[in-house]
Amino acid sequence: MTPRKVACVGSGTIGSSWALLFALKGHDVVTYDVSDDVLSRSTALISNMLETMVVNEIIGKDQVKPVLDKISSTTRLAEVSDCDYVQESALERMDVKIDLLGKLERVVGDHVAIASSTSGLPIATMQKDMIHPERAVIVHPFNPPHLVPLVEIVRGEKTSQITVDDVFALMESLGKIPVRVNKQLPGFAANRLQTAILRESMAMLAEGVVDADGLEKIMSAGIGLRWAFMGPLLTANLAGGPGGLDYYFDHFGPLTQSICETLSAWTSFPEDAKKKAAGQLRSLPVVRGKQYAELVKWRDQNLINILKERGYLPSRD
Ligand SMILES: NC(=O)c1ccc[n+]([C@@H]2O[C@H](COP(=O)([O-])OP(=O)(O)OC[C@H]3O[C@@H](n4cnc5c(N)ncnc54)[C@H](O)[C@@H]3O)[C@@H](O)[C@H]2O)c1
Repeated sequence: MTPRKVACVGSGTIGSSWALLFALKGHDVVTYDVSDDVLSRSTALISNMLETMVVNEIIGKDQVKPVLDKISSTTRLAEVSDCDYVQESALERMDVKIDLLGKLERVVGDHVAIASSTSGLPIATMQKDMIHPERAVIVHPFNPPHLVPLVEIVRGEKTSQITVDDVFALMESLGKIPVRVNKQLPGFAANRLQTAILRESMAMLAEGVVDADGLEKIMSAGIGLRWAFMGPLLTANLAGGPGGLDYYFDHFGPLTQSICETLSAWTSFPEDAKKKAAGQLRSLPVVRGKQYAELVKWRDQNLINILKERGYLPSRD
């Protein structure tokens, strides 16, 4: 499947970044959202993201207009009818997703894949009333999709193999790194890992074990540096020295057990913990006094540096 024209339905944070990625890779794109105001914000967001790419010499200045020219926008869903791939990135609410997928499948052709960007809603529920549920699938990106390579691909009971294979190939053609998640659990795989870390971070912060500044440093100056190029198993394997994973599990077995026995079991975050975290976060030097757009630029700049180093983006030299 090499779609000529792609519909990005829902043009907020994620939909705008998807639209940019598809346009950068040569696809015509139509973005859809509920109002002209939202679509104007999306255009401004895309322009800002392009500017960061130009500054970093990922694309030339002369490429900006041709990329922007590939993206049109509409508030009329009927205008995505000639698209041959749909990436849905609307509000994370099941009623919205069900309604939208139902409408979309009546607008586009019967064989057009409809992929949802949902961060954790079950595709089985989204596709249950569809006429052609076999073309519905989850393609879960990471923010921002035009930079972070990973996508999780999750099928529902009714999703066809051809749909899964086609979207897998399409994602690879965009330079993404797709991972199939074989069982549908809330949050798929990646957000379960992120939430496990966030829960323990929040619990330790609430208990005063470590503050927000310490937590950010623990990840960015320690654990996260290794995680930029290897996962938890290889990390543990190397921590086990020449004895590898076997030695790691033996040597650190008692410690691992005592940590596991004392990890947080929160099923939601208490209000006072959320307030404490937000207050401490606001006073971090990197955040203090900065607007959202400035933080996005800072994040994207750092991501670009890492992605270049890892060979995911063209480098200056
Ligand atoms: N933000 C993230 O880090 C992230 C990461 C991966 C996946 N996602 C997923 O992407 C999707 C979008 O998240 P977001 O962060 O971009 O949210 P967002 O709030 O920035 O954007 C959602 C957009 O959906 C639009 N919308 C609302 N109702 C709609 C409808 N009926 N039809 C079409 N559009 C409608 C809104 O106007 C808004 O522009 C969600 O499913 C979310 O779980 C988000």
